Amino acid sequence: MESNYQDRIPNNVGLGANRTLQRALEHWQPEFLNWWHGLGPSDFNASSVYLRTAISVDTKGWATFDYVKMPDYRWGIFLAQEENDRRVGFGDHFGQPVWQQVPGEHRSTLRRLIVTQGDTEPASVEQQRLLGHTAPSLYDLRNLFQVNVEEGRHLWAMVYLLHAYFGRDGREEAEELLERHSGDADKPRILSTFNEPISDWLSFYMFTYFTDRDGKFQLKSLAESSFDPLSRTCKFMLTEEAHHMFVGDTGIGRVIKRTIEVMKELGTDDPNALRKAGVIDLPTTQKYLNFWFSSSLDLFGGDSSSNAAAYFANGLKGRPDEIKYEDHIESESSFTLELPDGKGGVREERIPMRNAVNEVVREAYVRDCEKGLARWNRHLEEAGYPQRMTLPSTRFRRTVGSWANIATNPEGKPIGLEEFNARQDEWLPTSDDRAYVHSVMHGVFERGKMASWIAPPERGINTQPIDFEYVRFH
Ligand SMILES: [Fe+2]
Ligand SMILES: [Fe+2]
Repeated sequence: MESNYQDRIPNNVGLGANRTLQRALEHWQPEFLNWWHGLGPSDFNASSVYLRTAISVDTKGWATFDYVKMPDYRWGIFLAQEENDRRVGFGDHFGQPVWQQVPGEHRSTLRRLIVTQGDTEPASVEQQRLLGHTAPSLYDLRNLFQVNVEEGRHLWAMVYLLHAYFGRDGREEAEELLERHSGDADKPRILSTFNEPISDWLSFYMFTYFTDRDGKFQLKSLAESSFDPLSRTCKFMLTEEAHHMFVGDTGIGRVIKRTIEVMKELGTDDPNALRKAGVIDLPTTQKYLNFWFSSSLDLFGGDSSSNAAAYFANGLKGRPDEIKYEDHIESESSFTLELPDGKGGVREERIPMRNAVNEVVREAYVRDCEKGLARWNRHLEEAGYPQRMTLPSTRFRRTVGSWANIATNPEGKPIGLEEFNARQDEWLPTSDDRAYVHSVMHGVFERGKMASWIAPPERGINTQPIDFEYVRFH
């Protein structure tokens, strides 16, 4: 399918040939813009931002860079190229042709999956809407806005599916995606992590590293779907998602690098001394990491889940990189879960593999998270410091699954609630930690300058220098 960049809504789905659908989406477009003006990035809508825009899905065209005012961003609908003779890759329908339309019996489940994914996209824009004011550099400010406009495009991607394949209910769901708001007491976003405010940049980097990575795994699971339009939509979204995680990965790395520099200068790792010098001490960064990692783990759902089993059996939502697994049916296989035994210990239980899909995906996610830690720890190693960043156990501070509300230490050892309460200030950000982190967040808007608490990036965006004018204010 040709890309049409001239239409009011750029697309490669032949929108011009489907007048009804085009009109429905053109009707939704002003509501989206309204939402963007009300709940998107505050105060920067008149600035020109050096952004990449997807104009087609081939390798050359999908990322063109130019100065754009965010409200003029060309939010488009792009699906990855159709695969010839694509077949169902897992579950009971393995090997059958994939579906170009929604099968009636899976309609409400698929709609729910799309709405849940769609809801996270604008939620993160809302969570981050005030961050621009405290950006540590123009480079970072530009990256924030890049993430924001692309999350906006991801919302478009899901709304397209709702409009194109789910009729009237789909259109209603699309409206509701703009009516729920992050942190809203009456109409919150669906998943709790997306109701946590992101009011400082350390949280933003943690979010883009850990929570956007959950997004990556969800999209990869949906990219395996037998509902082909969903699969193709998610495949293309993944190409954009990579940059979001890059922002988190390099952001946390730069925070740690800067702290190490000051540790060297002062010859101490004393948090008070480091805070006086305006950097974020390593224990504080670790606590933020503990918070966002554990919160993101919950997004994968229960470790034993009949919903996950049904999604897998029916070919709706699979495992990332399904091709790498030996058994694509998993009707006979099992998985061993480690569960709390209710007496302060751990017991094992074998469950059907299909019921363990969430856990299997969560494990793959954890392995992916570890790569960043290895990179950050290399900075410490090279500087000759013994400290290391660590991922807490997947049992720690969970609110979903078998370990929900079971007190453990970060190593995953069950402990009494009293001990947890007494020690949680060592493990999770305290109000003092948050107040300190907030206190160093000041907007730095001079070309090439960085805030005191973060090192410059290794290179700029799209081969531009680090001191490039990534955002022009007007
Ligand atoms: Fe997204
Ligand atoms: Fe993202």
